[in-house]
Amino acid sequence: MVPVNQWIKIKAPATVANMVCGFDILGFAVNNPYDEMEMRFVQRAAGQASITIINIDDYNLPTDPEKNVAGAALLAMIEEYTANSIIDFSTIGFEVKINKLIKPGSGVGSSAASSAGAVVGANYLLGNPFSKDDLVRFAMNGEKVASGVKHADNIAPCIHGGVTLVRSIFPLEVIALPSPTLFVTIVHPQIEVRTADARSILKQNVQLKDAIKQWGNIAGLVAGLMKGDYDLIGRSLEDVIIEPVRSILIPGFDDLKKACKAVGALGGGISGSGPSIFFLSKEKETALAVEQEMKKLYEGLGLAHHTYVTNINQKGVEIEA
Ligand code: HSE
Repeated sequence: MVPVNQWIKIKAPATVANMVCGFDILGFAVNNPYDEMEMRFVQRAAGQASITIINIDDYNLPTDPEKNVAGAALLAMIEEYTANSIIDFSTIGFEVKINKLIKPGSGVGSSAASSAGAVVGANYLLGNPFSKDDLVRFAMNGEKVASGVKHADNIAPCIHGGVTLVRSIFPLEVIALPSPTLFVTIVHPQIEVRTADARSILKQNVQLKDAIKQWGNIAGLVAGLMKGDYDLIGRSLEDVIIEPVRSILIPGFDDLKKACKAVGALGGGISGSGPSIFFLSKEKETALAVEQEMKKLYEGLGLAHHTYVTNINQKGVEIEA
């Protein structure tokens, strides 16, 4: 266990959920952007809050632990730990400093980074009593605060690193998938799409013919990742269920998709619930050409935007003690 008052530093990566066809089940972590956090144990008097959140960015996110995604994830962890532990959480608490470099509402797992970073950090302070799957379970409480629903397609890759498949949430089963070298280009048009809103517009029923296409693509994508078959990955990056509904929220989406494919991207689509859009490429040069297409399109539309050219992060949340 780390002594009281000793700060640790945490780096929590952004994540791309859904991976186009795998709504709520597939996702991967990227090396850039990432959130920076610091955490420590503090002594506290009886009656004082067990979790203190200190925002060191300008987003004014709630600091009440029950309304803050990191706080909600930590409360779930403390509850489970208290049931059978030697630490008395009535005299000890967590202090968490959060510097969000991943803009909230951008669609690249900003809330997941805070929740996952907090529970990985707390686990380290406690001497690592919990498994990665336990940590994913706790962190999903943060996603519930953010979007109203527990989903793990950002949390799982944020904690595990790499590409992950969430085969089941209740009970939780996360499968880490291998992947060949892939370059990731992301554009974040500066509009906000709330995950709760992007979920509320989805149709509740799916036609069998669409479901057949979709599960073919999911299986094809998983097989492509495991075999390192770039063409199969590219062909499988197709979403006939969610994207047709959500893409109307993102200006320029269809034109951008055509332009990025034309310069050689394997494929891509909406990152999480948007508005960010991502494309995967086999070569760095292609990823940079994709970035140019993104800039050209959004400059043309007069819409402020931010781009990243990065790759898949294999480590997940990292601790610097
Ligand atoms: N799978 C979730 C969604 C990710 O698309 O709503 C949200 O970040």
